[in-house]
Amino acid sequence: MCRREFDSPYPHINKKRQFFWWFLFCGMGESNWKGVGEREFPAEEGSGKPWVSQAFDISHPAHVKKPPSGGFFDYAIMASLLRNFKQMKKYFYLNGKVLPIDRPALQINDIGILRGYGVFDFMRTQNGKIFHWDDHFKRFTNSAKTLNLKVPLSKASLAVAIGELSKKNHCQKDDFSVRLVLTGGPTEDGLSYKKPSFAILLEDIYDFPKTCYQDGAKLISLDYERLLPESKNNNYIWTVKLGALKKQKGAVDLLYVAKGKVLEASMANLFLFKGATLITPKDGVLKGITRKIVLKLAKHHFKIEERDVKIGELESATEVFLSSTNKLIMPIVNIDGKKIGGGKVGENTKKIIELYENYANNY
Ligand SMILES: Cc1ncc(COP(=O)(O)O)c(C=O)c1O
Repeated sequence: MCRREFDSPYPHINKKRQFFWWFLFCGMGESNWKGVGEREFPAEEGSGKPWVSQAFDISHPAHVKKPPSGGFFDYAIMASLLRNFKQMKKYFYLNGKVLPIDRPALQINDIGILRGYGVFDFMRTQNGKIFHWDDHFKRFTNSAKTLNLKVPLSKASLAVAIGELSKKNHCQKDDFSVRLVLTGGPTEDGLSYKKPSFAILLEDIYDFPKTCYQDGAKLISLDYERLLPESKNNNYIWTVKLGALKKQKGAVDLLYVAKGKVLEASMANLFLFKGATLITPKDGVLKGITRKIVLKLAKHHFKIEERDVKIGELESATEVFLSSTNKLIMPIVNIDGKKIGGGKVGENTKKIIELYENYANNY
């Protein structure tokens, strides 16, 4: 009896129900849908094995294959499962394999777990293409270099892996977010490591409440500068630790201020307007991809200053906004309880939102 329980991956489901699910999945497996199993991908470049029959280019929406046509039985099954699609397990990529998201994966002695030694990048798709893929890959590679790590896949292979994973997760219809995570890998002594662990996770795009954009959002400040701030490393301890406080204060993010200088938010870059001059901190911050786009678009409309920003300058700022892949362009009207720009979203920020939206929609 014990054995049977161990044999079954779902011991809590009785035999009849097990047969039902087995029957369903057999049906799916025989249809053109790929079965739920693991799929091998080469972890390294040049492993020789062709790993997708046809190169999949995520940067081209035509490569995102539609679900194959099947018989009535396939559609009946799909229809019965469609209702649950959002709750269905997703898959992630780890060291060359695609696995269900709830599968225990990293070794417990991964230096990413024991020491937080790792980097990541976070991007999204826009109209079926990865938004600014070149920039994200470059930043990810540089973040890895900062920790003496190497991204184990080439840019092309990584694009293919993301594309394959998006198919496996049925992400063909909506845009989605992509998280790349690279750690040093397993460690024997808690300090050295040999083989990096590399994962790709796909996530739904998080929509912030509309009021954040229409009425503006709040920040609370913290005296802190991120460790190795130009890299997107895994140290987000303050962001997580102060999550409850942020919520309690109704703030959308933390604002990092160190040695009298305004730096960045915990998950976004900061911009301020003084009249028609757009200012953003230059050093001690992550060079956001959204920040880069804002600077490029805004230079045709405003005077730009990339420089140190003193804390006192926030009080005289006429407008403030955040930029990030997740928040896009989000107006800030209150910092630590003090109103910015009379507590209203300013016209210049609205202009930046408009420029950014046009740019992204036509990407
Ligand atoms: C600390 C920090 N700064 C800035 C950003 C904005 O970067 P991006 O525009 O590339 O999303 C992020 C994004 O997560 C971040 O974590």
